[in-house]
Amino acid sequence: MGSLWGSIVLLCGVFLLRAEGSAAQQTKTNVPRLKLSYKDMLESNNLVTFEGLANSSSYHTFLLDEEKGRLVVGAKDHIFSFNLLNISRDYTQIPWPASSTRRDECKWAGKDLSRECSNFIKVLQPFNQTHLYVCGTGAFHPVCSYLEVGKKLEDNVFRLDPLVENGRGKSPYDPKLLTASMLIDGELYAGTSADFMGRDFAIFRTLGKHHPIRTEQHDSRWLNDPRFVGVHLIPESDNPEDDKIYLLFKENAMDGEHAGKATHARIGQLCKNDLGGHRSLVNKWTTFLKARLICSVPGSNGIDTHFDELQDVFLMSTKDPKSPIIYAVFTTSSNIFKGSAVCMYSMTDIRRVFLGPYAHRDGPNYQWVPFQGRVPYPRPGTCPSKTFGGFDTTKDLPDEVVTFARSHPAMFNPVYPINNRPIIVKTDVDYQFTQIVVDKVEAEDGQYDVMFIGTDMGTILKVVSIPRGSWHDLEEVLLEEMTVFREPTAITAMELSVKQQQLYIGSDIGVSQMPLHRCEVYGKACAECCLARDPYCAWDGTECSRYFPMTKRRTRRQDIRNGDPLTQCSDLQHQDELSGQSTLLDKTVYGVENSSTFLECSPKSQRAVTYWQYQRSADDRKQEVQSEERFIRTDQGLLIRTLHKKDSGIYLCQAVEHGFMQTLLKVTLEVIDTERLEDLLHRDEEAAASVPAPHIPPPQESPNQKLWYRDFLSLVNHPTLNSVDEFCEQVWKRERKHRKQKAHLVQQVQIHQQQQQKVVSPRAHMHAQGLAAKWKHLQDRQKGRNRRTHELERAPRSV
Ligand SMILES: *[C@@H]1O[C@H](CO)[C@@H](O)[C@H](O)[C@H]1NC(C)=O
Ligand SMILES: *[C@@H]1O[C@H](CO)[C@@H](O)[C@H](O)[C@H]1NC(C)=O
Ligand SMILES: *[C@@H]1O[C@H](CO)[C@@H](O)[C@H](O)[C@H]1NC(C)=O
Ligand SMILES: *[C@@H]1O[C@H](CO)[C@@H](O)[C@H](O)[C@H]1NC(C)=O
Repeated sequence: MGSLWGSIVLLCGVFLLRAEGSAAQQTKTNVPRLKLSYKDMLESNNLVTFEGLANSSSYHTFLLDEEKGRLVVGAKDHIFSFNLLNISRDYTQIPWPASSTRRDECKWAGKDLSRECSNFIKVLQPFNQTHLYVCGTGAFHPVCSYLEVGKKLEDNVFRLDPLVENGRGKSPYDPKLLTASMLIDGELYAGTSADFMGRDFAIFRTLGKHHPIRTEQHDSRWLNDPRFVGVHLIPESDNPEDDKIYLLFKENAMDGEHAGKATHARIGQLCKNDLGGHRSLVNKWTTFLKARLICSVPGSNGIDTHFDELQDVFLMSTKDPKSPIIYAVFTTSSNIFKGSAVCMYSMTDIRRVFLGPYAHRDGPNYQWVPFQGRVPYPRPGTCPSKTFGGFDTTKDLPDEVVTFARSHPAMFNPVYPINNRPIIVKTDVDYQFTQIVVDKVEAEDGQYDVMFIGTDMGTILKVVSIPRGSWHDLEEVLLEEMTVFREPTAITAMELSVKQQQLYIGSDIGVSQMPLHRCEVYGKACAECCLARDPYCAWDGTECSRYFPMTKRRTRRQDIRNGDPLTQCSDLQHQDELSGQSTLLDKTVYGVENSSTFLECSPKSQRAVTYWQYQRSADDRKQEVQSEERFIRTDQGLLIRTLHKKDSGIYLCQAVEHGFMQTLLKVTLEVIDTERLEDLLHRDEEAAASVPAPHIPPPQESPNQKLWYRDFLSLVNHPTLNSVDEFCEQVWKRERKHRKQKAHLVQQVQIHQQQQQKVVSPRAHMHAQGLAAKWKHLQDRQKGRNRRTHELERAPRSV
């Protein structure tokens, strides 16, 4: 009996070892320090969710209004207004479906009724003090209208004007297309497609008092199947006449720009006061220029790895409104190699590229070269103004300038990122970046940009870039990875409210809200708070809490740059607080001789490395437990195989992070010899009444049989109790049914166990397991298939 159970546990142990083997090999610097599951987030009150309506989806279009305390969200057939304090508490919705006639037409045109023939809201922009401008795909027939929201929150209005306008050149027809828009001074700038087929892509300006204006039609030098990501207004000088609109998009590389098919990320510029040309380029932009955005890392083979699939852009404002920092998220085009990166660009670099040279080629079969000839005056791309241009309107531009602009929309040089490389690269993970927002956080030792990066798996990464020595050497610290949707889904929208200190997240299946910081999860101790290196948090004398730069309190401890608890916390005399000893877990575990046991210990921080110390008794010398044949250290704890009597004693689990050591757990292990256990088990099984066995904590539940294996599991203290529970319960039930076959099974397992005990390394261990299985297979063939032994072998792998 003892050896039967021993080997079941041994098999469970083997499974566990295999699962952890690979995890242990990961580098500790690239993992998120804290990983919070969807359940963790909900249970710790760090997530509020709106689970979506049954007849809606695609919660992709966000408009944050901090003043009114609302988040307006455009989705399929609906517009929502959420309370920023708590999105699930009170929200209002306006249904805005396409008419049944439009839906029928859409269906007859061969489109998918449920996925395409609805009104997907694509444009949601502030129009005036009381109204928003809103557009949707209208079942492949774009429509726009005005949404009344009132002046103040108290006005409590949320009403859609029943009159609809034509949405062509504002919203795409096809909901799948990536488009971007921005409404400024009553005019809507939109990068979108303006036809049913989705071929006529352009940058439009509509609404307002001017004639609509657009990019040159059917000219792939201007735009080549673009997918728009963002539109922004950035002033060029203190004179508003120089204001420029920047568009961020990706498109197919121009003909002759790249061998084969390739995607390039672009930044495009326009003058806000461009009214089009006079004789040529009438109602077309005369100031449009574009440049390639590079985000790449040098490869070991000398070939750069390019991240070209621009996914999202965030403008981080600086003291100078003319020079925001552009944060951009990219992925790779390759379908073999999955990777994501974040690059930062400066406006100085962007403006320098737009100053020239222009990309030029003499004809379709020529190469693109930097234009070397005389550039006409005023230089194409310059806005009509007193500052630089010295002309009043683009309609006054000389023909020569307009002709040049028409054939030279692209710049020759690309824009390189700040420091010439990404600030974050992720290639070894099964997700990709989709969205980014950045918050500037004031900390004790300086200002930090904290990035919140959304992924295609419904998770948010919170990352801070910390200068190691200079701004050219940044250390990327992945503070947290949080799951914010109930199932994996791509994050498609994100807004950050500084006022509420909350992040709002959109996806196909709903909207979620989470605070920017949850300092309390790092732990209560000064050291734990300090090690977290979260600029939002500081140790306040009693716990880890929100850091406010205004309040100068001596007790506040924070060290983002070094995360060194020794300098920050060592003057706190209480050793308890320093090492978190006050929360030290102290427990006793029983093990059975010759079987395995697992001492579970996983630090909160995934960046900590654990190691174990052993002492025979409380006043004995401590010594480190070395990894060897019988002792296997994993990320989840210590696995001890084939327990010996002499293994009894005290085990201390220590976590080391950033050079700082912390005791997490103290386990007293007591090894019970096999004879005593067998005696005990046997008695329990045969006895009609349940007599609590000596040396085992008194059982708390019946029936007898269930209790029996529970006791056993408490002896071995297995970490994945549930699955082992199930597995062992199955085995146990069968055990009772097929008692006759018992002798045979015991024999099998004993042979198996003998094989296992010869093993040295985990790899060899698995090899031996394979041999054992093979051997048994042969035996089965000889003796006729024995179902039970087979299942016993297989079961752990499918747990
Ligand atoms: C969707 O369902 C909600 C109720 O959950 C209803 O109020 C709304 O009118 C429906 N929308 C459409 C477009 O039918
Ligand atoms: C948000 O509102 C819901 C519903 O009223 C409530 O259950 C939840 O506790 C609230 N969450 C927070 C963080 O206020
Ligand atoms: C805002 O625009 C709407 C729609 O054109 C109009 O009805 C409303 O009067 C305007 N509000 C203000 C304050 O100008
Ligand atoms: C336990 O292992 C020891 C040493 O290998 C051996 O002498 C003893 O017989 C084993 N006991 C059982 C029940 O397998």
